[in-house]
Amino acid sequence: MLLSLLLGPTIVAAGPTVTTRDSSSSAVSVSGTVPKDAADAVLRPFVSFSIEFSSFPDFAGNLSQPNKFSNQLLDNLASLQGVKPYIRVGGNTQDFALYDPHLKTGINGTVVPSVSEDYPSIISIGPSFFESYATWPETKFSFGFDMGQNGTKAMNTLLGTAPLACKALANGKIAYWEMGNEPDLFTGDKRPANWTESDYVTEWLSKSQLVKRQIAKACPELAKDEGIKFIAPSFAGISNDLDAVTTWEDGLDDHHDIEINSMHNYIGGADEPGVTLAKTLMNHTSTVASVQQHVNLSSVLNEKGLTKNIPYILGETNSLYHQGKPGLSNSFGAALWGVDFNLYCASQNIRRTHMHQGTDYRYASWQPIQTNKTTIGTKAPYYGNVMVAAMLGGDDSDSDAQVVNLPMAEETDAAYAAYVDGQLSRIALINMVEYNYTGSDETRPVAKYSFLLPGTKEKSLSVQRLMANGSDAITGISWDGWSYNYELKGGEPVRLGNVTIGESVSVDSKGVVELKVPYSSGVILNL
Ligand SMILES: *[C@@H]1O[C@H](CO)[C@@H](O)[C@H](O)[C@H]1NC(C)=O
Ligand SMILES: *[C@@H]1O[C@H](CO)[C@@H](O)[C@H](O)[C@H]1NC(C)=O
Ligand SMILES: *[C@@H]1O[C@H](CO)[C@@H](O)[C@H](O)[C@H]1NC(C)=O
Ligand SMILES: *[C@@H]1O[C@H](CO)[C@@H](O)[C@H](O)[C@H]1NC(C)=O
Ligand SMILES: *[C@@H]1O[C@H](CO)[C@@H](O)[C@H](O)[C@H]1NC(C)=O
Ligand SMILES: *[C@@H]1O[C@H](CO)[C@@H](O)[C@H](O)[C@H]1NC(C)=O
Ligand SMILES: *[C@@H]1O[C@H](CO)[C@@H](O)[C@H](O)[C@H]1NC(C)=O
Ligand SMILES: *[C@@H]1O[C@H](CO)[C@@H](O)[C@H](O)[C@H]1NC(C)=O
Ligand SMILES: *[C@@H]1O[C@H](CO)[C@@H](O)[C@H](O)[C@H]1NC(C)=O
Ligand SMILES: *[C@@H]1O[C@H](CO)[C@@H](O)[C@H](O)[C@H]1NC(C)=O
Repeated sequence: MLLSLLLGPTIVAAGPTVTTRDSSSSAVSVSGTVPKDAADAVLRPFVSFSIEFSSFPDFAGNLSQPNKFSNQLLDNLASLQGVKPYIRVGGNTQDFALYDPHLKTGINGTVVPSVSEDYPSIISIGPSFFESYATWPETKFSFGFDMGQNGTKAMNTLLGTAPLACKALANGKIAYWEMGNEPDLFTGDKRPANWTESDYVTEWLSKSQLVKRQIAKACPELAKDEGIKFIAPSFAGISNDLDAVTTWEDGLDDHHDIEINSMHNYIGGADEPGVTLAKTLMNHTSTVASVQQHVNLSSVLNEKGLTKNIPYILGETNSLYHQGKPGLSNSFGAALWGVDFNLYCASQNIRRTHMHQGTDYRYASWQPIQTNKTTIGTKAPYYGNVMVAAMLGGDDSDSDAQVVNLPMAEETDAAYAAYVDGQLSRIALINMVEYNYTGSDETRPVAKYSFLLPGTKEKSLSVQRLMANGSDAITGISWDGWSYNYELKGGEPVRLGNVTIGESVSVDSKGVVELKVPYSSGVILNL
């Protein structure tokens, strides 16, 4: 239906007048080979998830009831990006979890509304919690230890869970270990008001060495073959109570066991006044500003030689902290934000992103079980994850993918080039002009773009679209005509009959290709 609007050189839409943007007069030039100043190749996998510790049994299930829907959604991403997403199990609730060897269920969580309505803050885990690490084949995890609590029970938790975790994660399932979540927010809360970077480092070193000794005892093979490597410091942000540069200077990596520099990021807060799709998420300027803080921190760490050969990643990230805003974080507009945000990270040497998930979280890519708050299902942000994975795909899981951000005139446009093994292989364009379809009779405007591909031999390029009825859509979303919705085939890809596929655009004799993109949608051009 949309494509019928796209006939002819000028865009003529039936019905009310449409304002249509034409950026095609100045073609964006895209090099055929990777520019010298491009970011390093992304880590594989790039598209990864962080799952709230207390929600992990919901997402993964257990041995008697594995969550096959979640596994299917992870497999879909694997088939696009070559490797299944890495799963960091952690978050706020990792620092509330105490081990109870007598607990009959995986987890016993109690919500304390004054702390959060969204997750429990009194938590015990039992031995069967660790079954959840066994339900997804060929998946690597990071395990989040509780550093937030102190005292006998907390110490017994570290001593008691390390052997269970290493046994559950033996045989190639462990990616990294993690000690504590967002300790830069502990000062004056979980720790005294005078708690400093050096106090943190002392405590991190002592607790991480403690669990390393336990793991080496319980899982000598794993300790020998894969080593015991951490992600750290898992700070909530750049400007909280602890400074990341000081933390590394104070000796966080004294034992040379940190393999990944993990920081967290949210674009804004769900309860912040004035947060909207158009202003906060579907806004390339806002995404650039948010990521720039990490680029700056990373460059200071590099200049000081503090994180040599330690890749910078976002170990927990999503749109709006406090678990997202209803109608916003779960909309198609947020999926488009996710594409821009993730590809921009990839273009800036942020080499992996773990999108944070939790049961009933508004920004979640999927709801793994039915609850009385949220319907089980694939949610809009997942389709953004899919487009990112498609953009980064390679011929095999070893191929290098590098992403370059292409300059665009408007902050509602974002474009990227992906180079696989050095050669231009895809161009992504995201139009983020908000188009509401509910309560609007306005015909959906279409923007026109053009790219100049010097030296290309291709005569025509195939087009794949990330599509929904509008930025406010929360259902009916598709990638290249595929739906991954639960209600169709439990998350397996299903080709929809009502979406155009198999489209292509021609490259003219000068190497110019023109692309028409409905407002609030995304496209990949394949070379
Ligand atoms: C396994 O999961 C099911 C479904 O959530 C639950 O009823 C059962 O108690 C779990 N088993 C254990 C041992 O935790
Ligand atoms: C679960 O935790 C609550 C709150 O601490 C406690 O009252 C309850 O007895 C616990 N249930 C089990 C089965 O341990
Ligand atoms: C930090 O505060 C605690 C009380 O919360 C106090 O006992 C301790 O002496 C203080 N440490 C320093 C170095 O000021
Ligand atoms: C918590 O325990 C660690 C390790 O024993 C210790 O270094 C730290 O000072 C303790 N912090 C508090 C606030 O008790
Ligand atoms: C986009 O974000 C930038 C930076 O936060 C802000 O200055 C600008 O006003 C935003 N644009 C819109 C349309 O709200
Ligand atoms: C990043 O660093 C540059 C140069 O020092 C500075 O101008 C800019 O404000 C910084 N941006 C952020 C978001 O920290
Ligand atoms: C919704 O589910 C929660 C968790 O299972 C339960 O505690 C609560 O009572 C339920 N609320 C309603 C209205 O059924
Ligand atoms: C779309 O809907 C939102 C929420 O109702 C509203 O704030 C926004 O202004 C609308 N945008 C357009 C372009 O009409
Ligand atoms: C999208 O628009 C089509 C055509 O108007 C309509 O049939 C379909 O129900 C809409 N989908 C959603 C999820 O609203
Ligand atoms: C296409 O079909 C799906 C599944 O029935 C639906 O959710 C979606 O809204 C439809 N899209 C359009 C554009 O009609």
